[in-house]
Amino acid sequence: MPLVPMRQVLEEAAKVGYGVGAFNVNNMEQIQAIVEAAKETNSPVIIQASRGALKYSRMIYLRNLIMAAVEENPDIPIVMHLDHGNSLKTCKEAIALGFSSVMIDASLTEDGRSVASYDYNVKTTREVVDYAHSLGVTVEAELGALGGIEDGHGAGLRGDEHLTDPNQVEDFVGKTGCDALAVAIGTSHGAYKTLRYDKDGKALPPALALDRIEEIHKRVPTLMLVMHGSSSVPPELVEQLNRFGGNMKNTMGIPMADIQFGIQRGVRKINVDTDGRIAFTAAIRKVFAETPEKFDPRDYLKPAREALCELIKGKMRDFGQAGHAGDYKLMTLADAKKKWYGGCGCACGS
Ligand code: G3H
Ligand code: 13P
Ligand code: ZN
Repeated sequence: MPLVPMRQVLEEAAKVGYGVGAFNVNNMEQIQAIVEAAKETNSPVIIQASRGALKYSRMIYLRNLIMAAVEENPDIPIVMHLDHGNSLKTCKEAIALGFSSVMIDASLTEDGRSVASYDYNVKTTREVVDYAHSLGVTVEAELGALGGIEDGHGAGLRGDEHLTDPNQVEDFVGKTGCDALAVAIGTSHGAYKTLRYDKDGKALPPALALDRIEEIHKRVPTLMLVMHGSSSVPPELVEQLNRFGGNMKNTMGIPMADIQFGIQRGVRKINVDTDGRIAFTAAIRKVFAETPEKFDPRDYLKPAREALCELIKGKMRDFGQAGHAGDYKLMTLADAKKKWYGGCGCACGS
């Protein structure tokens, strides 16, 4: 059962003008929740695994769980994507596992923390593109560097020094040949995304550099943009988590209106991890708090799976991908190679 090349899913989204959620997974219940949401809303979907997720699951487990979801749902476009690949080696490993898309995040060096030079980013991304495209695999790159560090990614950046420079975009895309580009516009990973507080110290939404998205889209209208750090950190989920013993304080996410502003200006892939983590954990905490006598994992993982599914369904509607699963005939990686990357399309492998 083939996975779909991400480029097809994003190009189809671009034709209609919607965004596609890319949701991080670490286990079976998260995969099932996301695919169930895609099924119920008739949505294409990107399932992504970070290096941490692959390490946690010892790779082959997560890969096979995602493939089970693909096998069970042949009519839903499902992309299996590597999130924040840090080197050609990591990307090659993911491709060998069968991923239909990889991100090479060479905006940072291989340690995933230090900001890399522009030349390093171009060179490393180009190497990944050459390898991935020879196999029909889509490549997402990153220009500029995201803020935040709390989940282990990023250089802990603050301010606008490392936001994507629209002047570099054409050169970067021309030199690397990447299919999609993650832009840094002031979002960050995790549940604490802002530097702005009111007079009482309460978190206010971050001031995103949405003008940069507008500018990039104006300059390269066909470029498919990616927004990382796009969790909205819904206050009602944080409240539930805290009500049942959690301790998340003064959190702040990205308003959906800002994401939708981006979608209207070329953002096609929207990365969400934190919101899923909160929904999942809040549901588990509720079971633990209300029925402490329970000890069967199914008693808390089932409600967690359902809560995550509800959350994702809402996002699929808000991003606009709902209803679009059946719009197009699914391509294989060989089709992608032939259509976009100069392959001949026969069995000779060229
Ligand atoms: O890129 C950030 C995602 O939230 C993945 O986080 O490395 O903790 O799995 P992780
Ligand atoms: P959040 O932490 O906002 O969910 O972002 C996730 C992400 O960007 C994964 O690459
Ligand atoms: Zn990210």
